[in-house]
Amino acid sequence: MKKPNNESVSTNKKRETFSSGLAVFFATLGSAVGLGNIWKFPYLVGENGGGAFVLIYFLSILLVGMPVMVSEFYIGRKSRSNAVSAFTKLKANPKWKIIGYFGVAAAFLIMFYYSAVAGWVYSYVFKAINGAFSNLSNFSFEQATNIVENQFLTTTESLYSPIIWQGISILVVALILIGGVKNGIERITKTLMPVLFVLLVISCIRALTLPGAKAGFNFLFKIDFSKINPSVILSALGLAFFKLSLGMGTMITYGSYFTEDNNLIHTSAKVALSDTFVSLLAGIAIFPVVFTFGMRPNSGPSLLFNTIPLVFSHIPFGNLLIIAFFILASIAATTASLSMAEVPIAFITEKWNIKRKYSVIIVSLSTFIVGALTVHSSSIFGHVTILGKNFFDLFDYISSNIILPVGGLLIAIFVGYFVSKDSVLDELSNNNKLSNSKTITIYYFVLKYISPLLLLIVFLNSLGII
Ligand code: PHE
Repeated sequence: MKKPNNESVSTNKKRETFSSGLAVFFATLGSAVGLGNIWKFPYLVGENGGGAFVLIYFLSILLVGMPVMVSEFYIGRKSRSNAVSAFTKLKANPKWKIIGYFGVAAAFLIMFYYSAVAGWVYSYVFKAINGAFSNLSNFSFEQATNIVENQFLTTTESLYSPIIWQGISILVVALILIGGVKNGIERITKTLMPVLFVLLVISCIRALTLPGAKAGFNFLFKIDFSKINPSVILSALGLAFFKLSLGMGTMITYGSYFTEDNNLIHTSAKVALSDTFVSLLAGIAIFPVVFTFGMRPNSGPSLLFNTIPLVFSHIPFGNLLIIAFFILASIAATTASLSMAEVPIAFITEKWNIKRKYSVIIVSLSTFIVGALTVHSSSIFGHVTILGKNFFDLFDYISSNIILPVGGLLIAIFVGYFVSKDSVLDELSNNNKLSNSKTITIYYFVLKYISPLLLLIVFLNSLGII
């Protein structure tokens, strides 16, 4: 029996769009570039053995990430709707809405811990302003390492402050989101992304002059094939989805705000390349420090927080650069959070036909309440484990390694097999206004035959079936 779909009614209201192609690019890049690049990418590279992981990550972006991204853009712009009702708008079987529902669930799971890490980043701005890292150069490498490691522990394990910082990070996102698409998301991303990039380049230049530069560089780029195993492949694939904000409808939602004349394939390629470049810059800034100061590359989520103060510790204006770095990292975390939260917000607003403001409040409050579990997941709740993982790791694992890739698989199958080829070709060529038929053919082929197959193999393999 078909239920009436009330959400498509409410989408008839006039929707906002981004104002130009440049704004589309920066907003999408703002979603992609975030803690995933500067925090998660380096620590996963560290935990999964370096260059081999980076190689699998590249392949995942190329063969799975980019095609899925274009598919999400297609679904979003064609339907001009949120990630759930998009499927009914495209006259698909309502069962496909499951992708949207999964996406809303993934968005929450990610926000629960992402907001905690964003809170740490915010708090580092104030730590640096208060001089917590200002005299690191007076100490030996070993003492300096101890100081930064202790700072991280006090930041994350004290009782109230991480929760307060998490609350602040959520509040900032909420206030921007209430401003709406054009004023909120667009303005912030367009101005600040380039500054982050410059600062990362400065960090890399500095890192490459450290004694451990060669070892760090080799760790990042030297491929040791013996390090590759099914769990490394699944992590790299999950990271590719997380990095490009795929598999959960973020890019469907953003695609729904794209201008009609945007070249979807170009946008996806530009975003994927720039995002990967930013991740590599972060890796180049971080690993030389790890090897110079004798840290462990696989030290996990603390990696960013322990290395960045050290990279700037022996140079003029180092403390100012640390402050600037964490300000920009906060901004990157914020712009990515905006896009994450936009998935449930667009859905709730259009589904319940309520004011955007109220759905922002609902989403932010629930993130804050459940998110508090992740803040203390390795201290107060350290003994609570589900499937052998604490809350933080569990939310991360279920979202990145399961929901996002499954969402991506379903999206690829939907666009490859359940909508007409003509509809896809029309949308990707902007109704034949672009002369990009060769590129479209390649994209379509990869999307239809290669991406779903690879995704299936990785899953079945990680389940031990093949
Ligand atoms: N891509 C973002 C980052 O790298 C995270 C994100 C995931 C954003 C999923 C939106 C959706 O930080």
